[in-house]
Amino acid sequence: MDIVAENTQVHDELRQGEAFEALVEKDIIFKKHFYIESYGCAMNFSDSEIIASILNQHGFGATKQPEYADIILVNTCSIREKAEATIRKRLTEFKKLKVQKPSLQVGVLGCMAERLKAKLLEEEKLVDIVVGPDAYRTLPSLIEEASSGQKAVNVLLSREETYADISPIRLNTNGVNAFVSIMRGCNNMCSFCVVPFTRGRERSRSVATIYDECVDLYKNGYKEVTLLGQNVDSYHFVNEADNTVTTFAQLLEKIAGISPWLRVRFSTSHPKDITDEVLHTMAKHQNICKYIHLPVQSGNSRVLQLMNRTYSREWYMAKIDKIYSIMPDCGISSDIITGFCTETDAEHIDTLTLMQYAKYHYSYMYYYSERPGTLAAKRYQDDIPEETKKRRLAEVIEVQNKLSQQSNAADVGKIFEVLIEGESKRSTDDWMGRTSQSKVMVFPKEQYNLAKGSYVMVQVLAYTQGTLLGKITTVVTEK
Ligand code: SAH
Ligand code: SF4
Ligand code: F3S
Repeated sequence: MDIVAENTQVHDELRQGEAFEALVEKDIIFKKHFYIESYGCAMNFSDSEIIASILNQHGFGATKQPEYADIILVNTCSIREKAEATIRKRLTEFKKLKVQKPSLQVGVLGCMAERLKAKLLEEEKLVDIVVGPDAYRTLPSLIEEASSGQKAVNVLLSREETYADISPIRLNTNGVNAFVSIMRGCNNMCSFCVVPFTRGRERSRSVATIYDECVDLYKNGYKEVTLLGQNVDSYHFVNEADNTVTTFAQLLEKIAGISPWLRVRFSTSHPKDITDEVLHTMAKHQNICKYIHLPVQSGNSRVLQLMNRTYSREWYMAKIDKIYSIMPDCGISSDIITGFCTETDAEHIDTLTLMQYAKYHYSYMYYYSERPGTLAAKRYQDDIPEETKKRRLAEVIEVQNKLSQQSNAADVGKIFEVLIEGESKRSTDDWMGRTSQSKVMVFPKEQYNLAKGSYVMVQVLAYTQGTLLGKITTVVTEK
C-alpha cells in the first residue's frame, strides 16, 4: 500500500476510535492531517505529489476525506476563466466545513495563488494560506504561521527550484503509471497564455534525479512513466561538474534504457522545438510510446503569429509529415483555441482543414478566454462574440469526433500491445489498458490469470467514441 493510502486508512481508523495502540506502536501518529485536491494540467497533479511528500516529511499525514482534514489544500489552475470559477465554487463548499470546524486551515496553491497573490485573501475570505508553485518547501512553516491566526503567503518565483531531491508520494495511484516532472516554468510567450506568469522561467531538473526517480518507480512495479514539462523539447540540463549538456532526446534515450518493460511517454511538445533527433529516438526504442501531443492552437498563419507561436501553418504541416514519415503508426493529438482575437471565419476554417491534414487521434478544444496580464490582453481586443467562439468550437469538436472515429475504425482488425492499467470501469470481467498510441482499449479478462501492469497483445474488434474494444491474442511475458 502506498504511504498516503496507508495513512488515510490509519487516520480513518483513528477517527473511529480504533487501533490507537497499534498506531502508537507503528509511530505514525501525525500532528495534523491534510487533504489535497488538484486542478489543471498534469504538472499540477505531479506537484501535489511533491507537496504531499514535503508535508509527510514534516509530520503531516494525508487523508482522502476533506471532513477529516485539519488543512485543506487546493492546487489551482488559472489557464481559463472557467477553471478559476470552478475553483472558487469549490472554495465556497469548504467554507461550510470551516464553519463547523473553525480551526480548519484552507490553503490555495498553484497557478491561481501565483496569479492573484495576497488579493486572494481579500477575495476569498476563508483562505488562510496562499502558496505559489516555487514555494512549496515553505508550506510546513506557513501552516505553523497560519495556526496562530495570521494569514500566510509565499508566492516567490525561483530560477532554480526543481524539487529535484524530493521523492514524490504517489497520490491516487494505480501502481502502473506515474508522472515525473523533468522541468518547470516556460520561457515561451504565447500571447494568450498565463503560464509564464504563474510558473516563472524555464529550468530543467538534473538528469541523475530524473533517472533515479524512474528507476525507483520501475523497482516498485510501475510500468510507465510520463516525463512532464510545459515544453519538454527545450529540456536542457548542464552538468556543472563536467559541463556536459543533456538534450531531451538524450534524456529520453537514457530513461528508455532503464528497461524494455518500462514504457516512456512525454508531454507537452511545442511544434517549434521538437527535433528530428527526438523523433528518431522514439522510433528506435519500442518502449518509447508512439504518441505525440503537439498542440497547434490554430491552423492559420496570421492567427498563429498573433498568438506568438513562432511557426506557420506550412511549417506545422511539414512537422506532421516528418512525424508520419519516421513513425507511420504514431498517434498525434492537439490543443486548439477557437475565436482568438480578430480570427475570421475563413481563418477558423483553416483550423478545421489543418486538423484533417494532421489526422489527430484526439484534441483538447477550448474557446479563447482572455487572461489578465497576458500579451494578448494588453495588445489585442477580445473582439469575437462568445456565441461565435462557441459555434466555432462546436465545429472543431465535430471535425475531431469524425477524425477520432475514422482513426478508431482504421484500427479494427489490428493487433496492439496494451499495458493493463486496471479493471474496466464498467465491468470487473474486463481489463482496461492503453496502446502505445495512448488509445484506451477494453477487453475481456478471459481465462488468463493476469494482473494490472501486464502486457498483452490485443486485437481490435470494435470501438465506441473514445474506446477500442478488443480480445487478447497473446500474453507478452517479461524475460
Ligand atoms: N505548454 C503547453 C500548453 C499548456 S496550457 C503547450 O504549449 O502546448 C494547455 C492548453 O490550454 C493550451 O495548449 C491552450 O490550447 C489552452 N489555453 C491556454 N491559454 C488559453 C486561453 N487563454 N484561452 C483558451 N485556451 C487556452
Ligand atoms: Fe503557455 Fe505557450 Fe508556454 Fe505552452 S508554450 S505553457 S501555451 S506560453
Ligand atoms: Fe493550469 Fe497552471 Fe497547468 S494555469 S494548465 S495548472 S501550469
